[in-house]
Amino acid sequence: MITIALAKGRLADKAIEILEKCGIESDELKNPSRKLILKDNTQIYNFILVKPSDVPTYVEYGVADIGFCGKDTLMEEERNIYELLDLGFAKCKLCIAGYKDTDYTQKDTVRVATKYVNVAKKYFYRKQINIEIIKLNGSVELGPVIGLSDVILDIVESGKTLAENNLSVLEEVADISARLVVNKVSLKTKGDIIRPLVACIREAIAKEDD
Ligand code: PRP
Repeated sequence: MITIALAKGRLADKAIEILEKCGIESDELKNPSRKLILKDNTQIYNFILVKPSDVPTYVEYGVADIGFCGKDTLMEEERNIYELLDLGFAKCKLCIAGYKDTDYTQKDTVRVATKYVNVAKKYFYRKQINIEIIKLNGSVELGPVIGLSDVILDIVESGKTLAENNLSVLEEVADISARLVVNKVSLKTKGDIIRPLVACIREAIAKEDD
């Protein structure tokens, strides 16, 4: 039995589509329900649909052998897992954003609203800028708008959320896309199933790029 953790939301549909190209089909996955563990039609694979930030945790602890999640989550969680493939979809950027022309470098302490606490700490530490992190779990753009923070560190995909709130990208921190991650022990003990699957996913992705 192989368990695959899928990040709920933006990423899951595309991950399901790629798995189908590798012959893994699940009627349970396609029909929304409240079931937490779903099976594929052959009963070889289990799926768990979890919060994006939890995918690396499930994979590190080996309760999921494989996971699909964003590079942003991997950067934040820093889990001891293998990142085997850049899947090339769900592309976006991690950015510092705020009101245009904000020169936060002039402040003694910069207030940064973000979900990505560890990424923010590292980024500003490298720039030798003192920060106070305000951890938010969503609608991070509200930070500067409502006067809670000077800037935000968040993902920008279309740029619509920033634009509609009169905010701009001030700096780009990292390019993000979906990644395939694997538990280190599972790759050894279940390599006969996982390796061919990874190879198939790699091919499916390459074909899409053609
Ligand atoms: C993410 C992110 C931004 C938005 C960026 O939020 O935190 O708010 O998407 O996308 P855009 O550049 O295409 O506008 P998400 O939709 O995941 O919801 P959240 O605010 O609840 O985290």
